[in-house]
Amino acid sequence: MQIVEIEALGESALQSIAAASSSKELEQVRIAVLGKKGSLTQVLRGMGSVRQEERASLGALVNTTRVRLEEALERRASELKASELEASIKSEAVDVTLPGRSHPLGSEHLISRLTREICEVFRGIGYRVVEGPEVETEYYNFTALNAPADHPSRSLQDTFYVLDRTGVQSKILDESEVLLRPQTSTAQVRVMEEEDPPIYILAPGRVYRRDTADPSHLPQFTQIEGLVVDRGINFAQLKGTLEYFCKEIFGEDRKTRFRPHFFPFTEPSAEVDVSCGICAGEGCRFCGGTGWLEILGCGIVDPNVFGYVGIDSEEYTGFAFGMGVERIACLKYDVPDLRMLLEGDMRFLRQF
Ligand code: DAH
Repeated sequence: MQIVEIEALGESALQSIAAASSSKELEQVRIAVLGKKGSLTQVLRGMGSVRQEERASLGALVNTTRVRLEEALERRASELKASELEASIKSEAVDVTLPGRSHPLGSEHLISRLTREICEVFRGIGYRVVEGPEVETEYYNFTALNAPADHPSRSLQDTFYVLDRTGVQSKILDESEVLLRPQTSTAQVRVMEEEDPPIYILAPGRVYRRDTADPSHLPQFTQIEGLVVDRGINFAQLKGTLEYFCKEIFGEDRKTRFRPHFFPFTEPSAEVDVSCGICAGEGCRFCGGTGWLEILGCGIVDPNVFGYVGIDSEEYTGFAFGMGVERIACLKYDVPDLRMLLEGDMRFLRQF
């Protein structure tokens, strides 16, 4: 290896370093010259076979060339790094003048809000809010609510049974049929099984019916069940409680009336109607031309129900009621069709 050749190698390496246009390219140049098999490394390795007299001067030249190249590499590397950083800052720049994406705030649905408000009214007079399962057994839905298997009142509320084709379910649920609950009255039994009187509870939740949707019926709606069990509870207290509730929710000017009715789990039983606010009692499509709308069923707890849960009916009496929240919403806000509450039309819902 001649001095001129080493100088030429150094020169061409310096040119390649200067010409490298990216960190990656520069690294390739470094490997080609100073890497394990690089051209200058090879020269260094070959020093052994150089004649003694030349070795010192040639060696010194190789070394200074290596140092020069390393310095040049370092300089070019930091130049390239800086320009690459600048380029990436430019390309990834955020335009802070662009308008941001807005995240619209959601709000409570009318039915959820009204359910909460009704619970608040009762909470104010000492009730506690509980919840039961939406998929229920026949026992809690009917049997323990005084509607045994052959009771005709069952057919009014027979809804959607959860079919058991595997046999697994009935083993788990004690041979009982399972259905989507048609009423929140099931909560009564569950609470009385667990607790001793005095009981003052409210149980809101979704219920399911084999009904076709029309202005005043929905196959799925929200019900709130109420139950009181204590010493000396009577019908006058039930009436007073529900009249107080109606005034709180509808205002002083709405009329209410109690009509005798039948429910298997109460005796005597009644239905409560509120005067229709849409037609002001004149009669319209919503109230079926009667001027009244039924919003709840109620009554004095049948002693048979106490029998199922082991409460002594000689010592305790109670009252219960169950109301439909969607109907109450329509009456309170003069909505002429229950179905409007479920359509999810924001123009409609934003009004509330
Ligand atoms: N569960 C009844 C229904 O869905 C409503 C009802 C009536 C509940 C009378 C009660 C009650 O607690 O005492 O039609």
